[in-house]
Amino acid sequence: MIKAAIMGYGTVGSGVYEVLTSNAGVIAERVGEEIEVKYVLDLREFPGDPVEKVLVHDVNVIMDDPEIKVVVEVMGGLKPAYDFVKTALLKGKSVATSNKELVAKHGAELIELAKANKASFLFEASVGGGIPIIRPLLTSVTADHIVEISGILNGTTNYILTAMSEEGADYDTVLKQAQDLGYAERNPEADVEGYDACRKIAILTSLALGKQVDFEDIYTEGITAIDGSDIAYAKALGGRIKLLGLSRMDGDRVCSMVAPFMVPADQPLYAVNGVFNGIFVKGNMVGDLMFYGSGAGKLPTASAVVGDVVEAAKTLGTTVPIEWSKEKVELTPMKEFTCRFFVRVKEDEQAVKKVFGNIEPVSAEGVTGEFAFLTEEMSEGDFDEKIKGLSLIHRIRSYF
Ligand code: HSE
Repeated sequence: MIKAAIMGYGTVGSGVYEVLTSNAGVIAERVGEEIEVKYVLDLREFPGDPVEKVLVHDVNVIMDDPEIKVVVEVMGGLKPAYDFVKTALLKGKSVATSNKELVAKHGAELIELAKANKASFLFEASVGGGIPIIRPLLTSVTADHIVEISGILNGTTNYILTAMSEEGADYDTVLKQAQDLGYAERNPEADVEGYDACRKIAILTSLALGKQVDFEDIYTEGITAIDGSDIAYAKALGGRIKLLGLSRMDGDRVCSMVAPFMVPADQPLYAVNGVFNGIFVKGNMVGDLMFYGSGAGKLPTASAVVGDVVEAAKTLGTTVPIEWSKEKVELTPMKEFTCRFFVRVKEDEQAVKKVFGNIEPVSAEGVTGEFAFLTEEMSEGDFDEKIKGLSLIHRIRSYF
């Protein structure tokens, strides 16, 4: 019998307990031993809940119990999760976490600490919820240079953009709907401003390169400026607007960003709708790969966490190897990123052509009093210079 502890009994924590108990038989077969949840740590009480009998409020009960071999951290945030995880690893306990803030900020250090203490630090659920993406990057696509990762990495914003497109509802109405359905937090800033996706693309890019990509260095733009007219133009183009976490890697040049993109129907991410996530990975040998599934939610996320618990339990006393050093990657400045831009301005076609030369006009039903167009492929720096001569309403990067 392997004893585990869960730190945090919120949505994901209760899901982890449910998966470990509902699927106890098949998990025991795979591990070769049963896994018992000996403790659940939370500040709150849960009268009548099955975890009542194993609930503890003092983390030291877990840390000081040598029987506990695997610790699940699903509290979220950095404090006190970072200290708790460090203590667990120092005591040789393996850790499985869904905490993208923790992994993006301290991943390299915690991997090193785990190795020094013959334990593992595993974080499949930190990106893409239930979608296996961390393990495939680490153990499957190892023959390749990863040259691009682009993903719909946030379920809340994808839900909002999908509903704006399908129901024609405005941003505020859909956000409220998403909050009522429990997808979006009461304070939705981390999702709608792109901070959540930023941490996730930082993790994926760090793993693809085996080095540290600081999320603070990643240009991040959310979806709050997207309006009904943008959605109408996307439809007129035959595309959709998606919030993407994107990294392009070409030798020493690494461009990384989070921003809304116009995505055409022939791009695989176009079909990723609602709360689903999709992650497109391009290797220089394997070509295009696509990972799709539930990027958030109790049981999908818990499934990924428990998958890590299973791996940790099968490899007790050793370290599951993860290549992610503390060596920092210097990102290529954003002004060198190139793409086409979808642009809305107050001037007319003539004035736009004088500045941008060859352009592709775009018109959408019901949108008047402005001129919209797609530029040719150009650098961000070039675009920023050119647009100074016009009255910009909005611009969205484009895969068209
Ligand atoms: N808030 C996140 C999302 C949860 O909407 O995708 C999963 O990380």
